[in-house]
Amino acid sequence: MEKAPGKRLESLTWPVKLERVQWITGFEAAEEILHHKSFREVTFKGLVPLLGPVIVTLEGAAHRERRLIGSKLFTAVRLKAAETGFARQEVARAAHQGQTDLVRLSYNVMAQTAGRLIGLDNLGAAKTTDEAVYLLSALVSGTQARQEGRPAYTRRTARDELRKRYIDPAIARRRNLLALDQAGRFSAGELPFDLITLLLLHTHQAERKWDTRQIAGEVAFYAVAAIDTTASLAPHLFHHLYEYHQASSGYTLPLTNPRFFRNAAAEALRLHPAIPTIFRQATVSIKLKSGLKFEEGQTAGIYVKEANRDPAIFGLNAGQFQPDRIIQAKTRRAGLSFGGGTHLCLGRELAVGTPEQGQPYFENAETASVELFGVTALLVQALFEHGAKPDPTQQIPEISPFARDVYQRYPLSACKELI
Ligand code: HEM
Repeated sequence: MEKAPGKRLESLTWPVKLERVQWITGFEAAEEILHHKSFREVTFKGLVPLLGPVIVTLEGAAHRERRLIGSKLFTAVRLKAAETGFARQEVARAAHQGQTDLVRLSYNVMAQTAGRLIGLDNLGAAKTTDEAVYLLSALVSGTQARQEGRPAYTRRTARDELRKRYIDPAIARRRNLLALDQAGRFSAGELPFDLITLLLLHTHQAERKWDTRQIAGEVAFYAVAAIDTTASLAPHLFHHLYEYHQASSGYTLPLTNPRFFRNAAAEALRLHPAIPTIFRQATVSIKLKSGLKFEEGQTAGIYVKEANRDPAIFGLNAGQFQPDRIIQAKTRRAGLSFGGGTHLCLGRELAVGTPEQGQPYFENAETASVELFGVTALLVQALFEHGAKPDPTQQIPEISPFARDVYQRYPLSACKELI
């Protein structure tokens, strides 16, 4: 049995009994479990009473059907439009103001990007981003107390508020548009192409119709899955690149090379996986190739941060940030940060771009020649192009080893307008 990482876990979405967990810290054992048919996904089991069964909590045929609907969003052409949509525009706006907080900036960019992809019309409007992000985080873990003048929410009240303010109006609008379309009052191509519309079209053809509550659950999960994960990466990437640049005298970042920023984004994500633990439950008693044994019903706790620093896979300097790291064939640059197997993250290319050759590509490879760089890399590249630096007059709060591995604030200054 591998050793339990003696660290506190935060943001668990499932109240797992930690004493029954067999912890996995090695990369190969973790990969074997993620790809093994005799384990089921349980990390997000705690969302089912709140949202109903959503893509990540389903298995087998039901999961394949759900994944097929969602994967229509993730074609190369659509992702290209999504990744380039908001980053430059928001950085230019920040440059105009001269200073900004990178945490807010990246949440803003990601809320707008995900909002458009999912079909949440009000998400990402300047006034509503903070509130929507607060509600999404309360949906995952609730809020202990009022924060920044906002009300305290339980997970349930956060879900209800999200539905009332963002999700249900967006669903109602699209139901109306589809009714107009069916009445022939639209010409082809006028319908929006987003998750909500795809779900409505699917349920229209399905034998058992979905009600608004089921669609709302799937939509809320996508928003949770997309925004916090991707947005929290940008400050890590900026920080590592800034330090990397400072530490190597005479070295200038290759500002015009988005592939460099893409590799660096995946490297930062390897070191700071946004979902630090992934849980799987054995459906039968089993002995794995790695020699590990599981009883039926026992849980494997994959400690992604440790597995991603496995020296056998990433070398003796696995704990360091090396944007030009040479990666073994068939290993993802971001390690296991996007999970693996049937539940492999659908939004991975939107977050960190197209993987290198020889690795799995778009599920919907209609235009596999389109190269993606990912929202995070493009955002941080634009910031460096504008000369952004950590604001010397404001301290960047250090991340406590006991807290979630995310920056709460990251003040930037010297963000100049380009001439
Ligand atoms: C850095 C950014 C991201 C990280 C680290 C991340 C991580 C993950 C992980 C670890 C899983 C698998 C969970 C499991 O196996 O238990 C997952 C699944 C998923 N992610 Fe992401 N994600 C990111 C961005 C996104 C984005 C941008 C989207 C959508 C626009 C997205 C949509 C999804 C969906 C729909 C699933 C469920 C897939 C399934 O169950 O078949 N993710 N993500």
